Amino acid sequence: MAERKRIAILISGRGSNMAALIYAARADDCPYEVALVTGDKDDASGLALAQAEGVSVSRLDAKKLGASYWHVLEKTLRETDIDVIALAGFMRILPDTFVANWQGQIVNIHPSLLPKHKGLKAHDAVLAAGEDVTGATVHLVTTALDDGPALGQVEVALIPGDTAETLAERVLIAEHQLYPRVLAEFASRETDPDWIVAKVGELTLKLPETHAKTSHGSPGWRVGSETSGKFFAYVSIRHHGEAPIALLVKTSGPDEMAALIEAKPDLYYRPAYYGASGWIALRLDGRQVDWDHVAEWLERSWRLLAPARLTRLMRAADEF
Ligand code: GAR
Repeated sequence: MAERKRIAILISGRGSNMAALIYAARADDCPYEVALVTGDKDDASGLALAQAEGVSVSRLDAKKLGASYWHVLEKTLRETDIDVIALAGFMRILPDTFVANWQGQIVNIHPSLLPKHKGLKAHDAVLAAGEDVTGATVHLVTTALDDGPALGQVEVALIPGDTAETLAERVLIAEHQLYPRVLAEFASRETDPDWIVAKVGELTLKLPETHAKTSHGSPGWRVGSETSGKFFAYVSIRHHGEAPIALLVKTSGPDEMAALIEAKPDLYYRPAYYGASGWIALRLDGRQVDWDHVAEWLERSWRLLAPARLTRLMRAADEF
């Protein structure tokens, strides 16, 4: 199995969703581990539970830390080498800079079927609206409150006579089922070959005159016309007994290839067959793939293989 993603859970209170995530992570095949529990109240009752379960806890208090709170939190998360932040009843709005620093890496659970009933008192709003079904949503966090793309939802039916309390209790049971499942899917998404191929495809197709084409069973991308284009990238998936998943791109030659492999042996390797003609393999199965770096490599490889009329255009655009 790929390396587990390191999750930090942020709470403000009892942390029952946090507990659901901690217990789900005990399964051998869970793709995440709970590396840290923290939050904005140093006496939140959930912290004692996490501590008793042997999870590392950082007791931060937003009121006591004042203006330095977000900075201290950021530092704690970086020092713990966190990949994904899971908000679980964390009742504080994240500043835009914090969200930007962790773009695409923060998830939240909200007790309604978003986009319906955002914000606080969701159950009261559900009752007031006379809904006959509500539920919970796990979504990616963006700068707008409770507004990022939904990653998963579960429905909960209303029962005549429901109050905000009875509803909250039942929705919470549904939340405990939903959150671990959706977080597991999210954490393993980036090691799923289909997701990786789609992501590389998306980046390659931003370059001029490119198209996808399979080569000996591997997904590949070419520059130029459909009939005479040249391959500038491939994704190798468990081929020839090599590392599981890698991007193959063209280097300037054997010297550069050797220097790169020597400098970063965990990231680069010489692929079978292709290595002889200057192609290098860049691993895409690590815990933290730097997709900006992947995009730079794709552009470089594209430049080496694109016809002169296209690279001239690209150079003109660079100078512009
Ligand atoms: C949960 O119902 C969660 O969905 C909600 O707070 C509760 C926390 O319970 N979150 C929000 O309302 C966020 N806007 P817990 O501490 O027992 O997990």
